[in-house]
Amino acid sequence: MNRAEETVLTLGMESSCDDTAVAVLRGGRIVEAELLSSQLDDHIPFGGVIPEFAARRHLEAFLPLTEEALRRAGVSDPRRQIGLVAVTAGPGLMGSLLVGVMAAKALSLAWNVPLLGVNHLEGHIFANVVSSPELVPPFLCMIVSGGHTEIVLVKKFGTYVFLGGTRDDAAGEAYDKVAKALGLPYPGGPVVDRLAASGNPDAFDFPAPLKGSPEIVFSFSGLKTSVITRIKKIRSEGAAIPIEDVCASFQKAVTDALMTKLRLASRQTGVRSVSISGGVAANTALRESLLNEKEWNVFLPPRNRCTDNAVMIAAAGFAAFRRGERSGLDLVPDPSWELWKK
Ligand code: KG4
Ligand code: ZN
Repeated sequence: MNRAEETVLTLGMESSCDDTAVAVLRGGRIVEAELLSSQLDDHIPFGGVIPEFAARRHLEAFLPLTEEALRRAGVSDPRRQIGLVAVTAGPGLMGSLLVGVMAAKALSLAWNVPLLGVNHLEGHIFANVVSSPELVPPFLCMIVSGGHTEIVLVKKFGTYVFLGGTRDDAAGEAYDKVAKALGLPYPGGPVVDRLAASGNPDAFDFPAPLKGSPEIVFSFSGLKTSVITRIKKIRSEGAAIPIEDVCASFQKAVTDALMTKLRLASRQTGVRSVSISGGVAANTALRESLLNEKEWNVFLPPRNRCTDNAVMIAAAGFAAFRRGERSGLDLVPDPSWELWKK
């Protein structure tokens, strides 16, 4: 990277789901400002994200967040100081993506600064790159969030190979649904993770889905149903639900499934640099299991960069910009943009 590139400031904007996030990144790694406005409290009463509502909240949040991020980064003249506006353009909720992309276009036009639409999943991969400069391709990244469960081979930055994904529910979605059945708040992952710490992972024999299958494929719907059926059965018998034990046993089954397929991907590709990303990458059991794999070089993003954030979007955008990628003002968000079909 030359000196000019090292000093480029990228404004990153993320609004694919329920978090509005803005960051200012210097070069590929130095975080000058990072802000996030979570809509979680607004969606809790509904037990999930309401797309129309999310889009309206992004609309309210973007400009104040951007102004504050620029102030914190010491940017008083964005026309001269900002070198790139990078924005999540998919996959995600169409209304939410539209708000971010329209805001980014407006800023790019007003400041006369280049614009780049970033794939949200490439962003998740770059959450690792920002925190671990030594992470270079080829490496594996397992993206595990509320909407995704995919194992990706990063051949080189910009070239991604899909190795396998889920047939039905995403891992985070299973966490959220099991939590709901237990009467726990949304999002369920962090709560189940916390309660699992004081439970017995062997109390219930929930099966790790597709563990024996020779394919890199996940399925969490059956596991979720088996946990929910068990909860209902205990309730119908009038007994108290051992919540911690249910959480620990469910978590063990999910972690087992994720680790089994990640090992398979590593064996099939011969790649031993392994990273994870997405909300479920914050999970304690998953992180511990990865760190126990002695044959691997393991990269874990800090917990706050596992979930959606704008630093990862700015970093992925900056790298793509250096590779020569550009977007025009005709950029259209794609709610189902597949990274490997870029
Ligand atoms: O990446 P993310 O913020 O948003 C999506 O793109 O989906 O991931 C949110 C998901 C939710 O399903 C949440 O329950 C889950 O990640 N999650 C966790 C943990 N923290 C968040 N799941 C398990 N353990 C955690 N500690
Ligand atoms: Zn995400």
